[in-house]
Amino acid sequence: MPYAVKIPIVRKQSWGDYHLFRFQAPEMAAAARPGQFVMIRPGESTAPLLRRPISIHGRDRGALEIFFQVAGEGTALLARRKAGDTFDVLGPLGRGFDLDAPLDGKTACLLGGGRGIAPLYFLALELADRGALVKVLYGGRTADDLPVRDRFEEAGLELACSTDDGSFGFPGLVTGLLETEIPVRRPDFLFVCGPDPMMKAAAGLASRFRIPAQISLESVMGCGFGACWGCVRRIKRAGAEAWRKICEDGPVFPAEDIVWEGWK
Ligand SMILES: Cc1cc2nc3c(=O)[nH]c(=O)nc-3n(C[C@H](O)[C@H](O)[C@H](O)COP(=O)(O)OP(=O)(O)OC[C@H]3O[C@@H](n4cnc5c(N)ncnc54)[C@H](O)[C@@H]3O)c2cc1C
Ligand code: FES
Repeated sequence: MPYAVKIPIVRKQSWGDYHLFRFQAPEMAAAARPGQFVMIRPGESTAPLLRRPISIHGRDRGALEIFFQVAGEGTALLARRKAGDTFDVLGPLGRGFDLDAPLDGKTACLLGGGRGIAPLYFLALELADRGALVKVLYGGRTADDLPVRDRFEEAGLELACSTDDGSFGFPGLVTGLLETEIPVRRPDFLFVCGPDPMMKAAAGLASRFRIPAQISLESVMGCGFGACWGCVRRIKRAGAEAWRKICEDGPVFPAEDIVWEGWK
């Protein structure tokens, strides 16, 4: 059951257009699962009217964290909030990553592109807790687009980075880095979040190498809990294509169920 709370931001960290907020929300934190998200009212007034979906980035003793990149009006307004400011959060929402398979001793590769790294920190810690061998591949356009890379290393997680401009780590796309990784240590599971072209390419690799993959999709959202049908995309269900709500049926789907045709 989602909780709606007005709570203060207890910590804020910023790196240019990227921001991390931490807030104390014990009930929400207890209910949260990796891959779920919250809907946040960006400012104090009613404009913009709609809340914005942001993934749960971290959970720590009754606190939750979000990590976001400024993309437009709402996230720019949110980025102006300071530690001590109160903000309005609804969550946790959606179906997160399916972690029902036995994970102990299995290798899990997490592939995050840009702000798509957001849900993967919470997931990486949960997978490691359950005994999986976790490797995180984190890609950005430049070194400045990898602001939370230290967090993974400080948590003792194995991390490799890529940048499109070659300024840090593997030079090229993060899916290129994945292609170099697979022959060395073929993962048992792949978890992906990032821009659509990256997720589509990752789904192609997962299919080629027969690696079960879960992909966290994005969509513009009106309500975040299944009421407005504003977030639908074509997804297969029992083999047949259907319009499915990203907020309620997802945002995480098995890679093979996602219909990529017609997408950017
Ligand atoms: C389930 C989910 C989880 C998300 N988690 C995160 C997160 O952890 N961190 C983060 O930085 N962002 C995340 N996003 C994306 C974030 O919600 C959008 O960047 C934000 O809503 C944009 O709002 P805005 O008012 O700043 O921009 P707007 O002014 O509304 O839009 C700016 C531009 O971004 C496009 N856009 C708006 N919303 C989306 C969207 N959802 N997907 C793709 N393009 C969009 C618009 O078409 C427009 O071109 C998530 C989205 C979803 C659906
Ligand atoms: S955002 Fe309203 S139904 Fe999904």
